[in-house]
Amino acid sequence: MTSKTVPHLVWHPAAVTKHDRQRLYGHKSCVLWFTGLSGAGKSTLANAVEQQLHERGLHSYVLDGDNIRQGLNRGLGFTPEDRKENIRRIAEVAKLFVDAGVITLTAFISPYREDRELARGLLEPGEFVEIYVRCPLEECERRDPKGLYKKARSGEIGEFTGITSPYEEPAAPELVIESGAMSVEESVRLILAYLTQRGVIPEQD
Ligand code: ADX
Repeated sequence: MTSKTVPHLVWHPAAVTKHDRQRLYGHKSCVLWFTGLSGAGKSTLANAVEQQLHERGLHSYVLDGDNIRQGLNRGLGFTPEDRKENIRRIAEVAKLFVDAGVITLTAFISPYREDRELARGLLEPGEFVEIYVRCPLEECERRDPKGLYKKARSGEIGEFTGITSPYEEPAAPELVIESGAMSVEESVRLILAYLTQRGVIPEQD
């Protein structure tokens, strides 16, 4: 995969800007970047937060690893290089969504610190909200909702995060959700409070 850009390209400025869209929608846009082990609860949380945002009439969208890997990122596997490309593309897509004025929620393991930092670097300060969904490996393995840990232990799946492939914990995430100890409702409240406090979404009346 090449990281080179094609020469002779000139950026075309948009007639309608991100700020125009945010004014129209009545809220700011950002990325809620959920990271954590498989089975930690990233997708569950992202969807639960989005449901609340939607009910409040706010514009949102969830980009989910398991789904995106069946479409846009079909063909990418789980080597460090493929995971890097997976995250790079999602980061670029998330940036477009933020530009479109949408509160974007991403649910990817995104195990490498460097890749998450690349994603952060594509966005403006305050627009990248890293949410570490922390759950002990033993608990994820006990839940094993897709039966993948079992397959990873038996050797049927290689390079499985937490078993035969590393997960690098975030050093300074904006939020940490202890998914083994907190309920989904409690976690959603915490995330919405953060967004309100940061002025991304309006206070609820
Ligand atoms: S990432 O590491 O590149 O960020 P991503 O979140 O897109 O991963 O995909 C992870 C999902 O793919 C897991 O939830 C699981 O369902 C599935 N999967 C299949 N093989 C693996 C593997 N080797 N390691 C981790 N997840 C895997």
